[in-house]
Amino acid sequence: MWIKIAVVFCLVINTIEADNNSKVVCYYDSRAYLREGLGKVQISDLEAGLSQCTHVVYGFLSINDQKRVVSLDPTRDYDHGKRLFREATTLKVRYPGLKVLLGVGGDISGEPDKWLSLLEQSTSRIAFINSAYDLIKTYNFDGLDLAFEFPKIKPKKIQSSIGSFFYSIKKAVGAAGKPVDPKSDEHREEFTALVRELKNSFRHDGYILSITINPNVNSSLYLDVPQTVANFDWINIAGFDFQTPQRNKKEVDYAAPLYAPSERNPELNVDYQVTNLINRGVPSSKIVIGIPTFGRGWTIEDGLTATGVPPFEGNGPTPEGMQSKQEGLFSYPEICAKLTNDQNKNLKGENGPIRKVGDPSKRFGPYGYRLPVDGKFGQWISYEDPDSAGNKAAYAKGKNLGGVAVMDLSYDDFRGACTGDRFPILKSVKYRLI
Ligand SMILES: *[C@@H]1O[C@H](CO)[C@@H](O)[C@H](O)[C@H]1NC(C)=O
Ligand SMILES: *[C@@H]1O[C@H](CO)[C@@H](O)[C@H](O)[C@H]1NC(C)=O
Repeated sequence: MWIKIAVVFCLVINTIEADNNSKVVCYYDSRAYLREGLGKVQISDLEAGLSQCTHVVYGFLSINDQKRVVSLDPTRDYDHGKRLFREATTLKVRYPGLKVLLGVGGDISGEPDKWLSLLEQSTSRIAFINSAYDLIKTYNFDGLDLAFEFPKIKPKKIQSSIGSFFYSIKKAVGAAGKPVDPKSDEHREEFTALVRELKNSFRHDGYILSITINPNVNSSLYLDVPQTVANFDWINIAGFDFQTPQRNKKEVDYAAPLYAPSERNPELNVDYQVTNLINRGVPSSKIVIGIPTFGRGWTIEDGLTATGVPPFEGNGPTPEGMQSKQEGLFSYPEICAKLTNDQNKNLKGENGPIRKVGDPSKRFGPYGYRLPVDGKFGQWISYEDPDSAGNKAAYAKGKNLGGVAVMDLSYDDFRGACTGDRFPILKSVKYRLI
């Protein structure tokens, strides 16, 4: 009888613990430290959100000519400068249990050849591993998130009968399908070796090794699941930028859908990426889905229907936002400020409101748009908000995945400018995951 009760009790505790094992991996792109004005995000600005995070990834380091892992801004990061590495790992004192990883790679350099050549020489791999290890050890990080910069697939054309203009685009561009990397078989084997050697060098200290699959990288080409899966703690899927105004200038569409909208490329959505990894043998508990805190915006000259339903023809990225200072990209608080409100509802032109269209289907995420006037000021923005991000977290929970990654904290509403609540996207995913 007592044994029975004890067993039941243990089961209950185990269930609770299992629920709490879900990871919330919070990325901090330290380029945000260098932005000017309202877009500047310091480590102290993150603190209102950190109690929601199980891990922080401080990104992103790169590699130098000797293939050593290096900061892109040594005077910001290292101890002889502004000591941001130290500041990041010191967070562990105030947030016990928080793990802080160093993020290497990312979706930043745009020079995949440099990264592939790292793989090709065993001396380069050793230089990479030793330098990563040294930084982790010196600065008291807990491990490495490897977002290796593999070549991206070429944008595919939408196979659609929806709009005839897609056909004309297709003809102009010609058939896709040339291999992105003729030596991908070799590179896959070398990447397997790199992961194995990294894990070996980390084992003694118990450092974490996670990997991130960057947007638009075909992981089948580079990730040998049976040979590598035991060597990484989890794998982050950057589940966004399936469609961007830079890659798909003319094709306006959802940037980070959970499921494929009808008549679209069936691979360009979060669910496909997750299912594909599971089918290839990655345990679901090792899969973490990356949720963006930013939106992607296209300029619209005409072609927009009154409802704004995609896909339709666009004209490249929107101009830089005030905060994010990148074409075709808006942080969540920037988008929030553009949506129709009491201040902007009567404005016209470039300050006119963006009309929000929610997504009751919970499959594609919301979008917002502003119709062009004489071919000017038209915009269409696909984005994530606390609701849609929460839906993705609920999906992760429903599929028993390892958790979610918030990519990244600097584009969430860290000031609470939108509704007064700070880090609303982060909080929403955490709430839906537990
Ligand atoms: C799990 O998380 C919930 C909510 O954060 C908390 O109330 C509970 O005490 C945690 N349980 C364990 C076993 O840590
Ligand atoms: C990814 O690579 C696999 C293996 O070569 C191939 O079968 C698949 O079609 C590729 N997917 C894309 C989207 O290029």
